[in-house]
Amino acid sequence: MDKPATKDLTAFILNGNHVQCEPRPGERLSESLRERLGARDVKEGCSAGDCGACTVLLDGDPVCACLVASQQAAGRRVETLAGLVREDRDAQTLMTRFQQHQAAQCGICTPGMMVSAVALLRAEPHPSAEQVQDALGGVLCRCTGYRKIIDAVVGAHDGTAPAPVSQELGQPTPRFDGQAKVDGSERFGDDVAPQAALVARVIRSPHPAARFEFGDLAAWQAAHPGVYCVLSARDIPGQNLFGVIPGFIDQPVFALRHVRFRGEAVACVVGEVEAMAALDLASFPVNWTQEPAAMEVAAALDPDAPQLFEERPGNIMCSGLVQCGDAETALAAADHVVEAAYTTSFVEHAYIEPEAGFAEMVEGRLHVHACTQAPGMDRAALAEVLALPQSAIRIVPTAVGGGFGSKIDLSLQPFIALAAMKTGRPVRMTYSRVESLQSTTKRHPAQIRVRIGAKADGSLSGMTFDGDFNTGAYASWGPTVANRVPVHASGPYALQDYRARSRAVHTHCPPSGAFRGFGVPQSAIAQETAFDLLAEKLGIDALDFRLKNALANGVPTICGQVFEQGVGIRACLEALRPAWEKAKSDCADFNARHNTRKRGVGLASGWYGCGNTSLPNPSSFKAGLTAAGEIVLHQGAMDIGQGANTVIPQIFARAIGLPVAAISVLGADTDITPDAGKTSASRQTFVSGNAARLTGEALRSAILRQVNASETARIRLEAGRLLVEDATHVKELDLSRLEPDAEGYVLRAEESYDPPVRAMDANGQGEPYAQFGYAAHLAIVEVDIPLGLVRPLHFTAAHDVGRAINPLLVEGQVQGGIAQGLGMALMEEFVPGRTENLHDYLIPTIGDVPPIDTLIIEIADAHGPYGAKGLGEHVLIPTAPAIFNAIYHATGARITHAPATPSRLRAALKEAGHA
Ligand code: FES
Repeated sequence: MDKPATKDLTAFILNGNHVQCEPRPGERLSESLRERLGARDVKEGCSAGDCGACTVLLDGDPVCACLVASQQAAGRRVETLAGLVREDRDAQTLMTRFQQHQAAQCGICTPGMMVSAVALLRAEPHPSAEQVQDALGGVLCRCTGYRKIIDAVVGAHDGTAPAPVSQELGQPTPRFDGQAKVDGSERFGDDVAPQAALVARVIRSPHPAARFEFGDLAAWQAAHPGVYCVLSARDIPGQNLFGVIPGFIDQPVFALRHVRFRGEAVACVVGEVEAMAALDLASFPVNWTQEPAAMEVAAALDPDAPQLFEERPGNIMCSGLVQCGDAETALAAADHVVEAAYTTSFVEHAYIEPEAGFAEMVEGRLHVHACTQAPGMDRAALAEVLALPQSAIRIVPTAVGGGFGSKIDLSLQPFIALAAMKTGRPVRMTYSRVESLQSTTKRHPAQIRVRIGAKADGSLSGMTFDGDFNTGAYASWGPTVANRVPVHASGPYALQDYRARSRAVHTHCPPSGAFRGFGVPQSAIAQETAFDLLAEKLGIDALDFRLKNALANGVPTICGQVFEQGVGIRACLEALRPAWEKAKSDCADFNARHNTRKRGVGLASGWYGCGNTSLPNPSSFKAGLTAAGEIVLHQGAMDIGQGANTVIPQIFARAIGLPVAAISVLGADTDITPDAGKTSASRQTFVSGNAARLTGEALRSAILRQVNASETARIRLEAGRLLVEDATHVKELDLSRLEPDAEGYVLRAEESYDPPVRAMDANGQGEPYAQFGYAAHLAIVEVDIPLGLVRPLHFTAAHDVGRAINPLLVEGQVQGGIAQGLGMALMEEFVPGRTENLHDYLIPTIGDVPPIDTLIIEIADAHGPYGAKGLGEHVLIPTAPAIFNAIYHATGARITHAPATPSRLRAALKEAGHA
């Protein structure tokens, strides 16, 4: 039997106050600070000292609180962000600068970053960028790309903070929800549970394929006082399945008798905090019988491979196709053809906040507080699992410490919801870093073959694309990837003869799902690196080759869709020309002087259709005017760090004709905000932005009608009075004569927006998206030939965003996306059972991301709110191929497998003739 350990009193000074607590022997300081002393400003991302989110000052020195036993703090001085920003001038300065520079996006890493920066500034008041990189090197950020963090810390004492700017649309205003992120008061999934909450932990499969039987669960529970219940498949009141695509709802909440991937849930144990902390899950009574597993696409496609689903023969879950013209004939007629094969690896989202939250029953209804990208989808899926009407479920999203696609899917929600219903008590859960890596979705590994032809004049002549994507054990967003890739695999180029096929193939791996780009970053690696080979064969400059073939207004895409306006790829490519010409010359100069280190420059383009592919994709908003003269916007678009909480109010304010500061914003909550859809597919600025615009316009019209004012009149709010001013009059709307509705609004507006798309036919011809965004990246790298190391030196990124609603947030998205693309290109490779933590699974650190120039291109889109286009996915699509093209330019070594780890690069260098 597991017994709670005896505890001793530990006393220390926390943020200037004498405190004491009773930690268990060996308890981490991070846990004592958060759970016993309420210091929730200390964040935990890994419990292993890898991410640095929990950095505090111990006697003035930065340490990971998760690596310090609480007893080691006895008699010492502990400082956390919340205490520092109250008393410390450096911390207060950083608080301002982090906001002004947009150095905090989701904000989960920010306490660790700022605490580390305070320690640096105490020792070195005027640090260089290199000193900042050294001092903050132990703290990981997955959102920002680090450059703005460096900018915020360098010069903190120089009085060089940017001047305040207007908050209105088009201005680079700091995010409106930024203060909580920089003062430590932001509440993420693990920060919100009540003290009395029970704790749930999941029993997971250690094998990728196995049958299993439980032992005597009742006896095991009885032997563990403090354990309230053990939940398994038999406890699910509704459908023991979840998923995200109709027709592909296939993942059990709890596996029944057999598992399909390592990390799959089979049971959940719920109990009191101390009992659960003492619990050794290895004692849980379950017997496993391993079965053969197919871990890779080739193995899964073998005729003798174990079949994951009877109804999906050959382990092929689904496929996608786009074809136009006659690709084979065009390739046969081409003067030059490049044929190449590429493979990519699983990529982990690696947000710094693991999945976390709590659930409780409130007056007979289920409330779920957790990090999510899709509250409406969570509610619908939970209703099916729990056999509840959706009206009986309230989803209250917490702040989200990064998502990037994976937090669209359910993770812990069914477990805590079921446990709260069973026990009647609040139940909390936070995934360990290991179970987050083991069990949540990944970017699809891909095996791709392309053939691309061109005429001697440089015009494209035929392309074929065949891609198999490892979709893992369950569907998740695999069907979306299979459908989206063929639509994008051409890149933003004109091709009359094209055929692209994709397949999503089941394996005994974690489900692959949504990850920034939905398969397009993988296909862009193949197409954009093959383009460089083709340009070389043609003897044409790589930029000129792309420009010759780039799409333009009025030119059909490979789906036959014609955009008469808004096609911005040429402008992106042209914007890179000065940097391109200079980099080619600089690299040649450098290479003439060095033998073992070589520099190269590479280009790549990208495009991305914003929103769902040929499917309904609505967002809904509402807003109201209260009797007290307050304008309230119900903003349900999840902000996962990208900035919806800022951009959407900027759009709404412009539409209604008031300053942003005059708008009160209510955040996402399924009880109070209409469904703004999921935060994914670069849709929130475009789709939700349009819904917010329409809502603002409707409420404005309702106000103007009340006083018979013209559409051009100006609305003003002054001390609770609503004034409408036109060329000749100022009229006051008498709010007291209007009857408030049940929500207290005397006037209200509710509007939806669904992008106009048209279904694709069997050949993928149609209008899959109402708008695309466009991008082109330029990467300069240095290759250490003997070591096989690549060091990116500089990026220039041109992005057509239609209209930059907030240029500061655009830069943040671009820099963060490039950092993720850099990771995908050079280091990130999830291997089930091998890289299940953040010291084996490597993501870029602050020392890995070089300076980035962001060139904002504004080719307005007729469908976008004030011309805006989506951006979230585009930002990493060209990055990896630009790096690979730069490596080729530097060395002649072709990279055909991502990531280009040193061993792979060394092999490619040898093949290219380097010793
Ligand atoms: Fe750094 Fe999100 S802002 S992890």
